[in-house]
Amino acid sequence: MIKPFGSDILKPLFVAEDTRRKILLEEAENLPSLVISSAAAANAVMLGGGYFNPLNGFMNLADVIGVAERMQTASGLFWPTPVVNMLEGASLSAELRAAARIALRDPNVEGNPVIAVQTVEKIETATAEQLKQIIKQVYGTDDPEHPGVAAFIAAGETLISGPLEVLNYSYFSTEFPDTFRTAVEIRNEIQERHWETVIAFQTRNPMHRAHEELCRMAQKELNADGILVHMLLGKLKQGDIPADVRNAAILKMVDIYFPENTVMVTGYGFDMLYAGPREAVLHAVFRQNAGCSHLIVGRDHAGVGDYYGAFDAQAIFDSIPSGTLQIEIFMGDHTVWCKKCEKVMMMRDCPHGIEDYLLLSGTRVREMLSKGEELPPEFSRPEVAKILSEYYQSLS
Ligand code: ADX
Repeated sequence: MIKPFGSDILKPLFVAEDTRRKILLEEAENLPSLVISSAAAANAVMLGGGYFNPLNGFMNLADVIGVAERMQTASGLFWPTPVVNMLEGASLSAELRAAARIALRDPNVEGNPVIAVQTVEKIETATAEQLKQIIKQVYGTDDPEHPGVAAFIAAGETLISGPLEVLNYSYFSTEFPDTFRTAVEIRNEIQERHWETVIAFQTRNPMHRAHEELCRMAQKELNADGILVHMLLGKLKQGDIPADVRNAAILKMVDIYFPENTVMVTGYGFDMLYAGPREAVLHAVFRQNAGCSHLIVGRDHAGVGDYYGAFDAQAIFDSIPSGTLQIEIFMGDHTVWCKKCEKVMMMRDCPHGIEDYLLLSGTRVREMLSKGEELPPEFSRPEVAKILSEYYQSLS
């Protein structure tokens, strides 16, 4: 089986052992505590589940600058995006600034329960110039309209770095009990199924025919044992489809249209960065940790608006020194229903032209669903369209 990224065995930061948990929970009661950002809580969930192996906690400023500049922490570990606990310095009390250990509270769960205990390595404030550079390098833009940039700016300018012990998986494990999985759980399940070639499909959207066929094409070409549909369960920008609706639509589609025991429908607790190429690399790292041999990267992977070229998220893999990642990338071309071929085709494999393709923009699809109009079955499975249509109509 593929090795985790950066170490021989996966070292999740979740504390499962009862005695240690008890000690930490008691300790947390008496520690100075703070409610962290949603992004930091999501980082804790990913670190807890082993997805961000081999990181042992939140990065310091030197790590973040290195990661932004050249995808390397200060100690030389390859890593594509900052994994930080960032906040507004002004919100930190003197007690917190002086503490060696602090309790981190979850902003997304009522009552703000403790999600992790952190050993404070450093508290550092990034200058406006440093922040600008970091943002530009990670997101390829510093436009505050970019939803990932906006979230990064909103978190604050002060970083609390240091090792973490994670105590729970926030709302993900309770709201998505069947779909939410840790990297450890996925790895174990892949092993139990005796799958060797496993293709991860990243998604933050419901799966239409193009997505479904992209998975099938990759499976066929690689003669894969299985597909891991791995959906983001965390926060999205306004207008994106909420995780519960998407989860229902994907489960339905897989249940009807894929043979039994060939697809695992799973999810991970992370807020979308919309960082295009850099996020694609992060996706590869954490799918390797989850035990997948391949990741599908198609058109405009993890993109938003027009910030990235349609295949920038594939091109970035050329800049990664060989041997850094063990997981391989299945690069998909634009996939679309061709009226002449009468099936979903990758444009690079299809002899026909744009006029023969059934192309619907996201805006048009939303409009149709909101009005209760049927989507063409060549574009979306009727069972999927029904779930989405009910959701959109409940909004209006
Ligand atoms: S993402 O932000 O999670 O990447 P989305 O859920 O839309 O967005 O896409 C999931 C995966 O399918 C990504 O790898 C993306 O590149 C790919 N993809 C989506 N639509 C198409 C398409 N029409 N053709 C090729 N690849 C696609």
